[in-house]
Amino acid sequence: SIDQRVDSVLKLMTLEEKIGQLNQYSGREVTGPASDKKTNQLNDLKTGWIGSMLNVKGVKDTREIQAAAMQSRLKIPLLFGQDVIHGYQTVFPVPLGESASWDLEAIRTTAHIAAKEAAASGLHWTFAPMVDVARDPRWGRVMEGAGEDAYLGSQIAIARVKGFQGEELGKLDAIMACAKHFAAYGAALAGRDYNAADMSRQQLWETYLPPFKAAVDAGAATFMNSFNTLNGIPATASTYLQRDILKDAWKFGGFVVSDWNSIGEMVPWGYAKDAKDAAQRAMIAGSDMDMESNAYRRNLAQLVKDGKVSEALIDDAVKRILRKKFELGLFEDPYRFSDLQREKEVLADKKHLAIARDAAAKSIVLLKNTKAVLPLNRNYKTIAVIGPLGKSKKDMLGNWVVFPNDTATVVSVWDGLQNRKGQTKFIYAKGCDITGTSTAGFAQAVAAAKQADLVIFATGESGDMTGEARSRADIHIPGKQEELFKAVKATGKPVVALVMGGRPLIFDAIADEADAVLFTWWLGTEAGNAISDVLYGDHNPSGKLPISFPRSIGQIPVSYNAYSTGRPVKDPKNIHYRSAYIDESNLARFAFGYGLSYTTFNYSALEVDKTQFRKNETVTVRFNLSNSGKSAGAEVVQLYIWDKVASVARPMKELKGFQKITLNPGESKTVQFVIDKTLLSFYDADLKYDAEPGEFEIMIGGSSDSIQLRQVVELKGE
Ligand code: IFM
Repeated sequence: SIDQRVDSVLKLMTLEEKIGQLNQYSGREVTGPASDKKTNQLNDLKTGWIGSMLNVKGVKDTREIQAAAMQSRLKIPLLFGQDVIHGYQTVFPVPLGESASWDLEAIRTTAHIAAKEAAASGLHWTFAPMVDVARDPRWGRVMEGAGEDAYLGSQIAIARVKGFQGEELGKLDAIMACAKHFAAYGAALAGRDYNAADMSRQQLWETYLPPFKAAVDAGAATFMNSFNTLNGIPATASTYLQRDILKDAWKFGGFVVSDWNSIGEMVPWGYAKDAKDAAQRAMIAGSDMDMESNAYRRNLAQLVKDGKVSEALIDDAVKRILRKKFELGLFEDPYRFSDLQREKEVLADKKHLAIARDAAAKSIVLLKNTKAVLPLNRNYKTIAVIGPLGKSKKDMLGNWVVFPNDTATVVSVWDGLQNRKGQTKFIYAKGCDITGTSTAGFAQAVAAAKQADLVIFATGESGDMTGEARSRADIHIPGKQEELFKAVKATGKPVVALVMGGRPLIFDAIADEADAVLFTWWLGTEAGNAISDVLYGDHNPSGKLPISFPRSIGQIPVSYNAYSTGRPVKDPKNIHYRSAYIDESNLARFAFGYGLSYTTFNYSALEVDKTQFRKNETVTVRFNLSNSGKSAGAEVVQLYIWDKVASVARPMKELKGFQKITLNPGESKTVQFVIDKTLLSFYDADLKYDAEPGEFEIMIGGSSDSIQLRQVVELKGE
């Protein structure tokens, strides 16, 4: 068995060779601050001092570096890891954008294609998915996750883990997934990256841990810990997180890698006195592999000799890593992922572009469409494309792309419109830059608008404004873009805004005055084609926001699952001594779950099979969904539940189920949800997870702020 083979290798290893397996270095690129390693990497590879490399990709380079490791005494193969976050060569929508599809099959498919391409290019491991729940759009890394909700986040975590890992590890189209960042990184205070997180254990268990648990259950091979402290303790040094929860309670059999120098960063955190102290704490806490800090390599042997760290802990970490190397088949053939011919063929596979286009179209969210200006009239003579993102290719990819310079094949908005070959003539004016104060291009933009039947206004932040270390204190659309919009709108021409970003943005003038608004995130290689598919109605938009869009920065964090409070706002006109702002609504500008279609859906005839039930029983909810408009379309029906009285006050709405249903015009369908006690359970003050007897309100709708059907049911005592 694999375990016996792991033990047989372990027996041959010196303490130094064991520690080498726990050591991960970066290759030529860096995805963190430059470190002070000052070692000879090649020499370290040959002496067995390195167990894994990150930021080395491609068959040629991985082969060359693996060959150096093969000169070490025990010839233990290296693992090659990389941030394959939303595609490898073919770039898919940024994860937050793709999450707006609520289409688990599409999400699983793109993860699988990314894995296939990466695996053909020498890689064994992606540092994805990021499953951090995130509710603060100032945090640049909201772009990498699935948004604000624990339930949706868990479903998407499963889809992504399964997509990356395929049928099983060891197949040549599968790579190891890495659920990150464990844990609570998404709750970085004030949305500032690398900051502390502080929360009750109930909040941790209820909101931040479920997607990680889902990732373990889906078979995630690895976890990454995180930069933040959680209630004062660096996650990297947290025995509670890594041993008590992950390895003991959840029985996670894979290994945990640190984040980039997160072991070393315990020193500036003021938690460890030096790198040796940090190495000791991280190892005891269950952080198996050290990314880039070199703290393990420099200190663990001495810590074992001093009796501060038991060799048994090191053995456990090494075994976890060796097991994955065996599962990947690397002991049989360390080069099995490094085949030049396969790399060439897989990276040239045009089918991947069709998948990217489909996923991109499904990610677009229609926020507004007055007077049905969309889909576009194909008889327009002239359309003006205006705005700094109209011709951009690079921004369409967003951040965290593995081939950042390879933008030639990216389809811009402009390219996507040109590709249609209709009778409409398109003209372009940039108007202004994304940032900056110049209005010199306004006159030309206004002139272009005047010549046109309609304006497509391409606006937003830039592609590199979200991602790691990209927190923003101000999430308005930057620069002079909203002023440009107003100048263009003043021509009286209809304006369709394409708003782009990797996070929720604030764009008041556009939201109020544009005739139609599509939020298009960063959609990847096929962005322009997908946008044009939606603009022209070849793809009816069905995206729904996976995160709330605030009205103002002062509302942050705003999420749909608010509490009633002791002084709920019953009438927005009467907020005196109520839980409200005197200068702003409590509600998001665009709510979680919101998104329009070119057709309309009608919800009716809710039925439950029982209104009173016991814990061992289920309640079946059925209702009718019909397409009441003129085109075929898909609706994401959402199930929310409110536990009305409980030993711990509960949010007024919690997402507990969803289905994406496609209907032709006039068609209707009975939709069914089955509610069991797990959907009604929560963590009480003693962290006991259970459902308490009492009334639950069941709510069904097409958005968290558009509940169409309600029914109260009662859970009776034992
Ligand atoms: O995987 C990333 C992580 O999400 C943030 N720090 C760097 C790592 C490796 O690039």
